[in-house]
Amino acid sequence: MSIEKRLFGKTPQGEEVFEFVLANDNAEVSLISRGAALRRLLVADKDGEKRDVLLGFDDLEGYIERSDYQGVAVGPFANRIEGGRLKIGGKEIIVPPNEKGRNLLHSGGLYSNAVWSGEVSGDNKVVFKKRFKDMEGGFPGNTDAEISYTLESDGTVLMEYKAVSDSDMYFNLTNHAYFNLAGYDGGDILSHKLKINADSFLPVDENSIPTGESRKVEGTPFDFREFKEIGRDIEADYEQLKLTGGYDHCFCLNDFGKGCRLAASVKCEKSGLCLDVFTDLPGVQLYTGNFLSGTVGKGGKPMNHRTGFCLETQYYPDSPNKPQFPSCYVKAGEVFFTKTSYRVYRY
Ligand code: GLA
Repeated sequence: MSIEKRLFGKTPQGEEVFEFVLANDNAEVSLISRGAALRRLLVADKDGEKRDVLLGFDDLEGYIERSDYQGVAVGPFANRIEGGRLKIGGKEIIVPPNEKGRNLLHSGGLYSNAVWSGEVSGDNKVVFKKRFKDMEGGFPGNTDAEISYTLESDGTVLMEYKAVSDSDMYFNLTNHAYFNLAGYDGGDILSHKLKINADSFLPVDENSIPTGESRKVEGTPFDFREFKEIGRDIEADYEQLKLTGGYDHCFCLNDFGKGCRLAASVKCEKSGLCLDVFTDLPGVQLYTGNFLSGTVGKGGKPMNHRTGFCLETQYYPDSPNKPQFPSCYVKAGEVFFTKTSYRVYRY
């Protein structure tokens, strides 16, 4: 096991951004303090060659200028909130929308664009901390947020999210890594086989806001209860896929409330690599890189349409406005805590 820390770059405001590289016999992972982000994850493929299975950039400039939320932590509330509307302590608050002038998406990048302070803890863990001031980004409360990454001996990358605020708040933190198990330059991800342990998903309206219904996946292109190629039904004549140009939906994971369980697995024949995602959260957003359109990424390679997929574990989008969804309302002074892990290995 080894951990290295180095300067990754400086923001235009002069803030130093550090990179931490953790390695053991099964994986090597690199993290950067801007966005408390997962930048690289290298695992040996079936031929014993190390592949970096994450899309992203070689330098800080890429993360700042071209982002697409590559690898970053998202918070305080990941995904969409209709109208940026939150009811806190009986009072309505509007956080300025940043998508089509009507939705708040990924909290306007508040956590993703921040430079966090990173500290090595023990021999296999990095902890990123950041204090957000009351009304920063439009959110109430002085908040202490903490995101840690632990590289476990079997190659698991465990992500733990903690937040505590002096105001009541909705917390919903996630990681927005784009995977391609054939490597960041491995072409489209349509032949990857995906399994999601979800019997239902959340249909959305034309603005990608959940309608409030949770629909059984059975008999729909959203049925990933058994391994299925991501591309098999992606072009199906099904309204929910047409609305979002591919998968960009939250799946309702089975067994919420029973602790950490396997949420999803993805296999790639070309590399012989498999990704397992474990979480204690109720949902996972499957996003098939529908908006990727050639941004230049690692190795000068363009990140084209559907060359990466995200499995963003989370509370359901717009849950602050949907009382029927599991609540992530956290009282002032209470600690919000969740965990998710990604493990990539040869299957
Ligand atoms: C999330 C959303 C997508 C898109 C990406 C970022 O996954 O669900 O619609 O906004 O983030 O490009």
